[in-house]
Amino acid sequence: MIVPPGFEKLALSELYFKQAISSDLDSSHIRILKGGIELDLDLDAGLQLNVKSHLATRVLVRIEKFRCRDFPKLFKKTQGIDWSKWLKGPFEVSVSAHRSRLMNKKRIESTVGEAIEKQSKNKLKRSVDDSILAQTVYVRFDNDEVELSLDTSGEALFKRGYKHLEATAPIRENLAAGLFWALYEKAGRPKDIAVCDLMCGSGTLLTEAGIFFETNQAAESTKLKIFGFDKDNDAVQIAKKNISNVSLQKVSQVTAIDFLEADGMQQIKAQLSRQAPFQIGISNPPYGMRLKWPRPPQEFYRALVEAYRAAGCQIFGFIVPRSALKSVPRPIESFPFKNGGIDVVFNIYEN
Ligand SMILES: C[S@@+](CC[C@H](N)C(=O)[O-])C[C@H]1O[C@@H](n2cnc3c(N)ncnc32)[C@H](O)[C@@H]1O
Repeated sequence: MIVPPGFEKLALSELYFKQAISSDLDSSHIRILKGGIELDLDLDAGLQLNVKSHLATRVLVRIEKFRCRDFPKLFKKTQGIDWSKWLKGPFEVSVSAHRSRLMNKKRIESTVGEAIEKQSKNKLKRSVDDSILAQTVYVRFDNDEVELSLDTSGEALFKRGYKHLEATAPIRENLAAGLFWALYEKAGRPKDIAVCDLMCGSGTLLTEAGIFFETNQAAESTKLKIFGFDKDNDAVQIAKKNISNVSLQKVSQVTAIDFLEADGMQQIKAQLSRQAPFQIGISNPPYGMRLKWPRPPQEFYRALVEAYRAAGCQIFGFIVPRSALKSVPRPIESFPFKNGGIDVVFNIYEN
């Protein structure tokens, strides 16, 4: 299972929580890698990860793994696999190669492609038409070990399909799900929550919180209300639309409010007052780069922490670019990741 680097352990705990893997699957069947988790599962359970994991980018099934330092061996081993079990139509080959004797990606791609075509007596052919969705065979060389895997996801899993409109700088859906899950876990998995984003933009963090429990029978009973705020009225309209696209049966309110203004904060407090026994705050604020900070960074981040405290959030977190960490109040916990190529940190606070 491919996940954003930095989210590997969270992605695994999500699988246990959603009962996508059995609680007695022990560590000998799980390997945490950088940017992925390898799990020994039967095929059905593996395919289910596409639906159950909201943190995954893609789910692959491993077909073969062997040591390989020359092209004839790559061809022979690939040809030795019964590809009719795995491929049903046109396919393409995607290659990555690191620290290995075979590093010529084009040649690896054509060797594997030809071997599959030959093994299937040309019933399986490499794709020549971009308009037809082809199955992808992943070939990954690392330290002269090669893994052959088959993609089971098609479109990347973070392309959920609910975001027809985007405001500025939206966060990728599976990152948003991962950040919400980090806070929800830290909060002790409360059963009755309100989730609030004071700078919600297109509403990705809120939408992901809203759909997080839908593929988990054990947690479907979690009650959840959603509250979004943004000073930009266009962003508010987009967030409303995106949230309604997933037809959340939950209470959701998105309002145009600037949390830095005193009367804005009064309205936020009034809206959030006693909405749920547990309130979680989550934001992806401007990074002071493409989107400017509305105040000098130290003042802005202090105001944001105070606003979440005043709004009654017992736990809250927001993303900070690494370069601005000096200007941010000390969190109880933080973890680094990359968002759109920028080094950032998710800072978590308690009230
Ligand atoms: C990076 S965007 C949020 C993106 C959002 N998480 C998403 O995925 O769509 C930051 C948002 O903060 C909003 N914002 C900036 N200053 C604000 C303020 N003082 N009060 C409310 N919203 C503010 C901007 O209008 C912008 O929509």
